[in-house]
Amino acid sequence: MLPILVNTCSSLCLPVNVVILVLLAVAFLIIVQRNLLNLSDFLHKENPGVFIMVPETVRKGEEIPVLITAAEERLGAAIAAMNSVYQNSKANVVFTIVTLNDTVDHLKAWLSKTKLKNVKHKIIIFNPELLNGKISKESQSPEASKPLTFARFFLPVYIPEAEKAIYLDDDIIVQGDIQELYETNLKAGHAAAFSDDCDSASAKGIVRGAGNQNNYIGFLDFKKEAIKKIGMRVNTCTFNPGVIIANLTEWRNQNITQQLEHWMELNTREDLYSKTLADSVTTPPLLIVFYKRHSVIDPMWHVRHLGTTGAGNRYSPQFVKAAKLLHWNGHYKPWRRTSSFSDVWDKWFISDPTGKFHPVRRHSGDN
Ligand SMILES: *[C@@H]1O[C@H](CO)[C@@H](O)[C@H](O)[C@H]1NC(C)=O
Ligand SMILES: *[C@@H]1O[C@H](CO)[C@@H](O)[C@H](O)[C@H]1NC(C)=O
Ligand SMILES: *[C@@H]1O[C@H](CO)[C@@H](O)[C@H](O)[C@H]1NC(C)=O
Repeated sequence: MLPILVNTCSSLCLPVNVVILVLLAVAFLIIVQRNLLNLSDFLHKENPGVFIMVPETVRKGEEIPVLITAAEERLGAAIAAMNSVYQNSKANVVFTIVTLNDTVDHLKAWLSKTKLKNVKHKIIIFNPELLNGKISKESQSPEASKPLTFARFFLPVYIPEAEKAIYLDDDIIVQGDIQELYETNLKAGHAAAFSDDCDSASAKGIVRGAGNQNNYIGFLDFKKEAIKKIGMRVNTCTFNPGVIIANLTEWRNQNITQQLEHWMELNTREDLYSKTLADSVTTPPLLIVFYKRHSVIDPMWHVRHLGTTGAGNRYSPQFVKAAKLLHWNGHYKPWRRTSSFSDVWDKWFISDPTGKFHPVRRHSGDN
């Protein structure tokens, strides 16, 4: 470029060329300088070896903190969920993965030996003692034996540096750009946004026949004094806590974690949750604490019930394709034998390099 500029110019326009050359040189130096600065940033991060080896994949800009749990028996779910989030966005996603001690090595192998190796993450070991005195021993709920299901109650503890964060269940697939979900607007004074069980396109008709599963009375025992005293309406629409956008500043200011712990403890003594319909131990305390105090998530960002009997099949393939986030809540998981739209899930699943985890398939000719 330089010789051409000089050769095609008469002595009169030479000063103009000099100016252009100087500007080019300055621009060049600025670019070099910025890259050097970025590189030194990487060098100072705690576990970033991979970023130096493959700098073209490094993501910049505002960090989007995403909390997800990784349970050993369904580790492939968390992997598929993270992969779908990562591949469908260019945003600077940082995962906080909460797991149990025995799973750490398995998880690390899966992340480091596959195409997830560039994904920014930190792994946190859940301390089961956090739940001492907060879950009744005789609880029959399947959730009671899954301590990681309560990790979402401790969001600000796990992501102390962030003001805003996303929580995702592991049985989800994200098809949209997670940045869009992150930009969900939370009203002033609200610590979280959830997807309501009544106003969502996905909820309409799906839970009909499932009794009061989208009313507060399906989750809480309104005959109990402690519940009555709050003065909540029994037919209030519930929300699904599988996807949460949280304002962690508000969460801390309002002591949300302590409030949740309070209701968990009280439940072990006074048996406050309804067992007839929903049989959930995670949702009820959230319903109490966030009663009339939460913002809403765009329904297409939480299309759910794909794991409910037959329900998933009611969605048209076009609708499932248009959904930004799919949630297989219910008994029928896409990594098990009979589930709707498991082909969609399969697209994001990454084989386990250790060979321990295998999705179960009806026509399992391949493995
Ligand atoms: C966690 O697991 C490692 C081995 O993977 C073991 O050495 C360590 O004692 C465990 N820690 C706890 C607190 O169980
Ligand atoms: C979070 O809440 C705090 C305190 O109310 C507020 O100042 C802040 O703007 C909120 N942040 C977001 C991202 O909504
Ligand atoms: C939160 O807890 C702190 C310390 O226990 C207390 O001082 C404060 O009043 C509480 N705030 C709310 C909103 O409950």
